[in-house]
Amino acid sequence: MPDNNRRDFLKGAGAVAAATTLPLSVVELAFADPAQNFTFAYISDSHIQHVKGTQFVRNWDRGLIRAVAETNLLTPKPDFVMFGGDLAQLGTKEELDHGAEMLAKLNYKTYMVMGEHDYYLDLGEYWSKLYGPHYYSFDHKGVHFVVLNSILTFDDWTYNRWPTAKQRMLEMAGLDNPNGSPFMVGDKQRQWLAKDLEKVDKATPLVVFSHSPIQKIYKGWNFWTDDAEQVQALLKPFAKATVIYGHVHQIQYNQIDNITFNSVMATAWPWPYPQSYAQAEQHLPKLTVPMNRANPFFERDATGWQFIDVATGKVAMKYNLYNNTNRVVAFDPATGKPLDSAFQDLAKQIPPQVHY
Ligand SMILES: [Fe+2]
Ligand SMILES: [Fe+2]
Repeated sequence: MPDNNRRDFLKGAGAVAAATTLPLSVVELAFADPAQNFTFAYISDSHIQHVKGTQFVRNWDRGLIRAVAETNLLTPKPDFVMFGGDLAQLGTKEELDHGAEMLAKLNYKTYMVMGEHDYYLDLGEYWSKLYGPHYYSFDHKGVHFVVLNSILTFDDWTYNRWPTAKQRMLEMAGLDNPNGSPFMVGDKQRQWLAKDLEKVDKATPLVVFSHSPIQKIYKGWNFWTDDAEQVQALLKPFAKATVIYGHVHQIQYNQIDNITFNSVMATAWPWPYPQSYAQAEQHLPKLTVPMNRANPFFERDATGWQFIDVATGKVAMKYNLYNNTNRVVAFDPATGKPLDSAFQDLAKQIPPQVHY
């Protein structure tokens, strides 16, 4: 695809696309052989929330409905759709069913990632009935894709700490709740991943999808994966490795060794930039420019969609913010890092926003 040629990409999308910029991600893998080129769409963090009876929080519904509608209208058509987790808010059957009903309108094969809001009521049991295994891998046109369930935590916290499943969910669902527990991929899944990657040629582009970041960004808000280093060690042998994650509801990027990290936005709401606890351990890289937005209380200010171009095996994230200035975060071969070139000047960066 030409550089962020959103108009061409959306031609045929008609009035819906013309009127709105919708929360979804479009990913293009452009290889030397044009026949291998393909795109996929990425939708994440819809947080479908049940109120009562047949009533659900309308704004979150609208975010997902619009993403699905636009994905269906894309030209060229994506080969498949990723959903990045947190389909539901509190993991109930009502929420998961309602979300599934909306996702069922997608005209494409859809791959699902588990989010903590989907998981901690029944530990993913109902989600599995709808979508199958919590972690898996697949190959598509020369790229190896891995989907991880990165939102697991300590057994003691999961099984012994809380009197009810509902309370467990509520504790884990809070953004800055000190009763929450750090996310992790865990031993069993890391062993599976090691075995899965054994058979993959190390020159094959590798794209890992997770819900939490597979890096340690900010512990106070669980923008954090406790065994991140151990997972990263498994990705290190690959010449071209990328992790794309949801959960943080904002634009982030980072480079650790050969692994590039990029986040996607939510269809529900943006989070402000982490800064609640002065004492909280945080590793937010300077390079990670806060989203170019001013108002975390305006729920559409920083939702949006993006092209992700992986032409060289490294990603160029082209974020189209619904109601704010578009952004590009592209891997820069000269520095070996992802850069938001328009915002490298510190004076242009928006300072972190306080979370109340
Ligand atoms: Fe989320
Ligand atoms: Fe999440």
